[in-house]
Amino acid sequence: MPQASKVLDRVLVLEMVRVTEAAAIAASQLTGRGDEKAADAAAVEAMRAALNELDMDGTVVIGEGERDEAPMLYIGEKVGTGQGPAIDIALDPLEGTTICAKSGPNSLAVLAIAEAGGLLNAPDVYMDKLAVGPGLPAGVIDLDRTPTQNVEAIAAAKGVRAQDIVACVLDRPRHEALIAELRALGCGVVLIGDGDVAGVIATSDPDTTIDVYMGSGGAPEGVLACAALRCVGGQFKGRLLFRNDDERARARKWGIEDLDRQYDLKELAKGDCIFAATGVTDGSLLEGVKRRRDKMTTESVVMRASSGTVRWVKGEHRLER
Ligand code: FBP
Repeated sequence: MPQASKVLDRVLVLEMVRVTEAAAIAASQLTGRGDEKAADAAAVEAMRAALNELDMDGTVVIGEGERDEAPMLYIGEKVGTGQGPAIDIALDPLEGTTICAKSGPNSLAVLAIAEAGGLLNAPDVYMDKLAVGPGLPAGVIDLDRTPTQNVEAIAAAKGVRAQDIVACVLDRPRHEALIAELRALGCGVVLIGDGDVAGVIATSDPDTTIDVYMGSGGAPEGVLACAALRCVGGQFKGRLLFRNDDERARARKWGIEDLDRQYDLKELAKGDCIFAATGVTDGSLLEGVKRRRDKMTTESVVMRASSGTVRWVKGEHRLER
């Protein structure tokens, strides 16, 4: 059997874009229609069909939920033809279901693959997240420090004042204290309604002016964002947050023993990995799907950790064929 890393290299990099394009196009038919479930279902079905055409022995490690709660792309589901390397897959066919339903910014079809064992099997619980882009000294962020201490450390490393730092935070009542602390420091706070995969990745793009991502969101989205940061550079700290014993039991079921652990980027996505995303709606990372007279256009990005290569892919899909 060929080594997974070689196959990631030669075959799967661009194939990943076909998969996220298929999901994004399917979801885009329901953009702005107010039906989150239908948009998600369309993306899931299209992503699954595209994955099943690939020559790989794929296992979904982060997906739509556990087998009893998700009919398709559930955790543990086998995808691909079964011929080829063993690959772990983390996916979110429609990241930002509400955004898509309301036609807001930054909804994406997202996929990350790694050699077997490369991605943390994160249960569907919350994760406290802290992320910065590339070029800062190792250890500049730490979840054991206060938001103020993290902002001050980032500002010192960048040679700017704390009030020059711009933080991206999910707009949620649970983040009230965090937002108040950041504003008291004079920081700019970019509040996003949903979609923290794009929020985390935005720290790696100077054009967004976002210096740091802070706050809690889905743990699966945290692992997906880490796969992207492994490719483009940056630092990430994550800690799982549990609301009850059922969530703790789920984590243990997936082999997580130290429930309070502060994970580093490379513990969430290790070894070689590939991250791919296609925009469903326009956003900071990608343009959304556009329907023209005779075609649909897509914009995607696919990147690889071992080489750091980032490819931007514009697709034109004829409606007639
Ligand atoms: P969905 O695509 O599952 O709707 O997730 C959107 C999202 O905003 C994620 O980007 C984020 O990690 C999570 O929801 C935050 O969860 P909550 O909405 O419960 O705060």
